[in-house]
Amino acid sequence: MHILSVDQFTKGDIEEYCSRADFHSQFSSVTAQGKILANLFYEPSTRTSSSFYSAMVRLGGHVIPINNVAFSSVAKGESLEDTIRTMQCYADVIVLRHKEMGAAARAARVSEVPIINAGDGIGEHPTQALLDFYTIRKEVGVSHGLWVVLMGDLKHGRTVKSLAKLLRLYDVRISWVSPPELRVPAEFVHPGEIETDDLPMVLPYADVLYVTRVQRERMDALVDCSYVITEADMQIAKPTMALLHPLPRVGEISTAVDNDPRAAYFRQMRYGLFMRMGILTKVLEVPHHL
Ligand code: NCD
Repeated sequence: MHILSVDQFTKGDIEEYCSRADFHSQFSSVTAQGKILANLFYEPSTRTSSSFYSAMVRLGGHVIPINNVAFSSVAKGESLEDTIRTMQCYADVIVLRHKEMGAAARAARVSEVPIINAGDGIGEHPTQALLDFYTIRKEVGVSHGLWVVLMGDLKHGRTVKSLAKLLRLYDVRISWVSPPELRVPAEFVHPGEIETDDLPMVLPYADVLYVTRVQRERMDALVDCSYVITEADMQIAKPTMALLHPLPRVGEISTAVDNDPRAAYFRQMRYGLFMRMGILTKVLEVPHHL
């Protein structure tokens, strides 16, 4: 089984991943002993690559890290397909991050081992969406009418697209906040949803504020925009709101906010580790507990 897009998940799948993550947050299990993961990253990463690495090792497995393809045969001009054909000889699962949208689907067409899409350009980041959802569930709960505000570079960001698709399976309200040049593609917005560049207009209602950075590396021309969540913003937010960010942040959330109990972005990384352990046991088809 590959994990390529949030489109493939049912509510039942999401519930199963969350309960697997719950298990791994409480118990250790080494059910992936003897299994090997290839971490194939064509784009920079800290959290996604390290958390998959840590998850695999915590499950008793091993990792082939190819975090810098510049030092692999890719630098000699090898195609993605041939690199995948190679790695599947050595690994039981391949985690792939690539700069082109659709790369994970291309890889899956030639791979006999599971491909996990760890971000394909401006496309999707389905495991991030699962861990973001798990974070929301743990921090505020996913109740009827939950109001989620997605903010930042919604045009180029892949995490917001995957998360929005996943949240569509639940009865939540989504609002979109971005500079006009960085609006999410129209197909993601449902009738009646608020799209604005005015955060204070929606912030008082938000149960979750999910902030993202400007994806400068994905722009042809630089867009001149900046936004910062400050303590003043947190004062108009609900006392129960959760503030999420997939990270890295490059100034969108003031460090003065870090000690606010509503700042959930560091906890979010920890939830991500447990979620990725759950994802690995599922795709490797090993029991998640002995
Ligand atoms: C995100 C990504 O790579 O899409 N990072 C991550 O996986 N935690 C967000 C980003 O790079 O802005």
